[in-house]
Amino acid sequence: MASLGRMLANIVHEINTPIGSILSNNEVVVRSLDKLQAMLAAPDTMPMEKVRAIVETCRSLAAVDEIACQRIASVVRGLKTFVHAGDGEFHQASLQDAMTDTLKLTQGEFRRRIVVETDFGDVPPVECQPQMLNQVFLNLLVNAGHAICGEGKIVVRMRQEGDQAHISISDTGCGIRAEDCGKIFASGFTSKPAGVGTGLGLSISRRIVEEVHGGKIYFETQVGVGTTFHILIPIQHARTADPPKE
Ligand SMILES: Nc1ncnc2c1ncn2[C@@H]1O[C@H](COP(=O)(O)OP(=O)(O)OP(=O)(O)O)[C@@H](O)[C@H]1O
Ligand SMILES: [Mg+2]
Repeated sequence: MASLGRMLANIVHEINTPIGSILSNNEVVVRSLDKLQAMLAAPDTMPMEKVRAIVETCRSLAAVDEIACQRIASVVRGLKTFVHAGDGEFHQASLQDAMTDTLKLTQGEFRRRIVVETDFGDVPPVECQPQMLNQVFLNLLVNAGHAICGEGKIVVRMRQEGDQAHISISDTGCGIRAEDCGKIFASGFTSKPAGVGTGLGLSISRRIVEEVHGGKIYFETQVGVGTTFHILIPIQHARTADPPKE
């Protein structure tokens, strides 16, 4: 999907910023060590105040590097779940964690333009293929971001409803025209310019939610106000019935 390419570009950007900061800090540390080494050549006349200041500078740069590394590690953690292609196995997984990781990937694209609010209730671990649901969440979040022209808001909610997990993603975007509402899940339907959308995101998402997980995906929309996509996933996966014993 074209938007996935754009998303990867954003991830690279997210990683580049902290790497840039580590590199420039490293230059300062190397220069500081050079200065210290020069001072050590004449230990009797070492200007102790200067030495202390250099040590202090290095210490504060190390603290900044730690933050930068944590940022990179968290982007990579989010990415790792996408790299493992679906293995066809169902696992108990936290949908809150899956959504949190997915939201990290959209931070670069949404920052400054879109405020994201989360409202996660107590949802128990769900028997699912989390890497596939990550794909659905990412598709819906990217769509919501595309629907918002300029500034806006996305609200992600999660609740347990009986034996299902209910996830909703609401945006304050353009909404979907009545004549398009029946078409959006069709493979290849897109209202976006060539190169931006392929029209595959929602058909893939529907297959993952309904065929793979036995859940349900539907939406409510109002032109000019926004759209909410709802996903229902059974907390316990219903396996296909065992073949009858002979
Ligand atoms: N949150 C939304 N708000 C408004 N329109 C939407 C929203 N989500 C989907 N749509 C409409 O549904 C169409 C199909 O969405 P879908 O995700 O299948 O494809 P795409 O986003 O156009 O392309 P791709 O996902 O393959 O990059 C979109 O082009 C858009 O017209
Ligand atoms: Mg899409």
